[in-house]
Amino acid sequence: MMLWSLCTWLYIIGFAVVLIFTAVFGYIYLSVKYFQRARKRSKAEGRPPCVAFFHPYCNAGGGGERVLWCAIDALQTRKPEWKIVVYTGDLNASPDAIIKKVHQTFNISLKDDIQFVYLHQRRWLEAERYPYFTILGQSLGSVFLGIEALIAFLPDVYIDTMGWSFTLPLFSYVGGCTTACYIHYPTISTDMLKRVISREVTITNKARVAKSPFLSFAKLIYYRMFASLYSWCGSFSDTVMVNSSWTEDHINKIWHCCSSGTTVTHRVYPPCDTSALKAMPMAPDISEGGPIKIMSIGQYRPEKNHPLQLKSMYELRQIVSDAIWDRIKLVIVGSCRNSEDHQRVKDMKDFCRHLSLENNVEFKVNISHEELKKELQTSTIGLHAMYNEHFGIGVVEGMAVGQIMVSNRSGGPKADIIEESEGSRNGFLALDETEYARAISAIIKLGPAARKRIREAARSSVDRFSTEEFEKSFLRTVEPLFLRHTN
Ligand SMILES: *[C@@H]1O[C@H](CO)[C@@H](O)[C@H](O)[C@H]1NC(C)=O
Ligand SMILES: *[C@@H]1O[C@H](CO)[C@@H](O)[C@H](O)[C@H]1NC(C)=O
Ligand SMILES: *[C@@H]1O[C@H](CO)[C@@H](O)[C@H](O)[C@H]1NC(C)=O
Ligand SMILES: *[C@@H]1O[C@H](CO)[C@@H](O)[C@H](O)[C@H]1NC(C)=O
Repeated sequence: MMLWSLCTWLYIIGFAVVLIFTAVFGYIYLSVKYFQRARKRSKAEGRPPCVAFFHPYCNAGGGGERVLWCAIDALQTRKPEWKIVVYTGDLNASPDAIIKKVHQTFNISLKDDIQFVYLHQRRWLEAERYPYFTILGQSLGSVFLGIEALIAFLPDVYIDTMGWSFTLPLFSYVGGCTTACYIHYPTISTDMLKRVISREVTITNKARVAKSPFLSFAKLIYYRMFASLYSWCGSFSDTVMVNSSWTEDHINKIWHCCSSGTTVTHRVYPPCDTSALKAMPMAPDISEGGPIKIMSIGQYRPEKNHPLQLKSMYELRQIVSDAIWDRIKLVIVGSCRNSEDHQRVKDMKDFCRHLSLENNVEFKVNISHEELKKELQTSTIGLHAMYNEHFGIGVVEGMAVGQIMVSNRSGGPKADIIEESEGSRNGFLALDETEYARAISAIIKLGPAARKRIREAARSSVDRFSTEEFEKSFLRTVEPLFLRHTN
């Protein structure tokens, strides 16, 4: 009797599983056919080719949005025959309002023939919705939102500019679109895996998990499985664009792009608006007398490593003459976000007195834009000390005004920004206080002509990060995708 009922149950469960699988795959198959027919029909009706951008937070006005709008601006100019669609979840912003805000925020004038497709399910992307398994939850949520988008509008080329890579298989396989993505930051990185393995407590790794070997092990399996799934989704992208070497490294490691050979990553630096900085006059050269100003910009956060900057000054004093030392002034500019930051400034001032540097170091907290401009225009040397910064926009800005930057030999400044080989040198890299001091003293000892050469090289090298350069590389990268649909 027992045996009989067990078998019955097994049959029922097996049958249900088969039924569910058939239903799911049948549904996917029918959807694929449906979208194929829809595409044929619209081609027959003579609908223009169409590119859609998936950017549910397109009205946020941040750096990621600048990338989106510059890309659209480039396409409107170079591919006027293409229709442009933006999937957005900003339900209470009208198309006109969005275009106006783009103009106000980024000084980009878009033509108003962009079609906005409004998505109502954006709430599924919010991290707060998923107290556990957040990245998996958000990624599955994005698929849900992607389904809404695909049903609302079927494009020919699909570009994800927010890193919701789980939507790629949907648009590529089910929708039959050509796909591309622009990645600012990998959803999961090998660093995150390492932190779980070493059981370090961070934002992405709660103390409770880090303490328990079992939870850490379980989390590692979860991350590994997620990484495989993420990599599988990435393989549906016909073209992958990344915003920096740092992101490129991580995407290559997780997506195995280069080893499988199916997709290659293209480095397309995001547009930085440096034209105003480049238009400023350069600070007078050190040989003309006057103070030798060294500038360091950055919030008063621990990772900006201000104590090390002070220690480098201390070292510098040992290796330059008194006459030079009296002319040197380090100006530390930064904003304070909270009382901890204010405390940090106080500690730094004490440390400064301890090293008896108080006559050569000045702290400027929360200064106005005007005052900042004045400081930029009077400093010849820039200091940047953060370790492993992903990019280093501050370094680029310093170079744009013609400062000679001394940066930490790591991260973005090393990989993307500073070139040290003789003949094309545009700045200096250093690792510890001695190296920093040596680099500064070397800059001071250079002849005026050599210094000028470096400053000019620095100024022109930031054009790699300009809007024009972004538009050029973006178009070059996506052009092959468009060709497939124009003939
Ligand atoms: C905005 O862009 C135009 C050209 O596109 C330029 O002439 C103008 O100076 C820019 N305005 C600002 C405030 O940057
Ligand atoms: C790439 O995007 C990340 C995340 O937004 C950012 O931290 C980094 O600075 C960006 N890189 C560049 C070159 O702007
Ligand atoms: C600096 O600005 C921040 C916010 O912008 C503010 O909270 C802080 O109190 C300001 N600090 C000073 C010294 O003005
Ligand atoms: C540069 O980064 C390295 C690695 O963390 C650190 O040891 C060093 O102190 C940093 N240098 C400066 C001047 O911040």
